[in-house]
Amino acid sequence: MYFFIEAMRESDIPRVQEIERQSFSTPWSAATYLRELRSPEYARYIVARASRTRVPLDTYPQAARRTWLNTLLPFRHATTAPASPYPVVGYGGIWLSVDEAHITTIASAPEVRGRGVGELLLNGLIDLALECGASFMTLEVRVSNQVAQNLYLKYGFEARGVRRRYYTDNNEDALIMWTGDLRSAEYQARLRQLRMALAERLKRQEQAEAEPQPAPPAPDAPSSPSTTQA
Ligand SMILES: CC(C)(COP(=O)(O)OP(=O)(O)OC[C@H]1O[C@@H](n2cnc3c(N)ncnc32)[C@H](O)[C@@H]1OP(=O)(O)O)[C@@H](O)C(=O)NCCC(=O)NCCS
Repeated sequence: MYFFIEAMRESDIPRVQEIERQSFSTPWSAATYLRELRSPEYARYIVARASRTRVPLDTYPQAARRTWLNTLLPFRHATTAPASPYPVVGYGGIWLSVDEAHITTIASAPEVRGRGVGELLLNGLIDLALECGASFMTLEVRVSNQVAQNLYLKYGFEARGVRRRYYTDNNEDALIMWTGDLRSAEYQARLRQLRMALAERLKRQEQAEAEPQPAPPAPDAPSSPSTTQA
């Protein structure tokens, strides 16, 4: 499977909500997503889509001018564009405020977790933040959510504080995490390394999935004996 990132469209909201219900105990409503998509002055949202083949360049002509990994990162198009034929497998968003971008949400569909989609989404959000003029990123994460914390730590987020009883469903505390300066030479070098590793991982996955799998034995074919008769 080939994964790529685009701006979220209004037509994506039902599928986004499906993943949201599988991922969070207090999902946002469709009306909230619609309001967010219609507020580009402070909010931006992306989706990860899946395709069985590389995304056709005639569908996304901008891709031809980009490097391989950049073809996976957000293309600009209206959030009201017609529905995409490529299914949504994850999504994420940021709020923008002066020089910081606050990650509001990020989730990959349960059936694709552990295959780089969360990391691809985070890269998409970092690019969006930079494009929108932010220099820092921040977020809240449940203290118990080690998987998400690992992803953020990998991308240079550090825990800088706690919001007590932040989550209303079970009064769990939130860790507040921040990046350093996204535009620093040090962060950019780290990002390049991480992106090269992610590109390698996604390519390896694509190749492994493209390799023909051995055909299973016919149901009534005699199984090969484990020893010879001679
Ligand atoms: C958090 C989430 C987005 C990660 O998405 P994903 O597609 O599974 O993640 P990836 O395959 O891209 O993995 C990226 C990194 O996440 C961390 N990670 C992913 N799965 C993990 C696991 N099972 N155990 C520990 N760390 C894990 C690792 O740091 C991993 O990097 P690595 O492969 O180099 O170890 C996904 O688990 C999710 O949607 N969770 C529910 C919603 C949620 O909690 N969102 C965060 C709200 S703050």
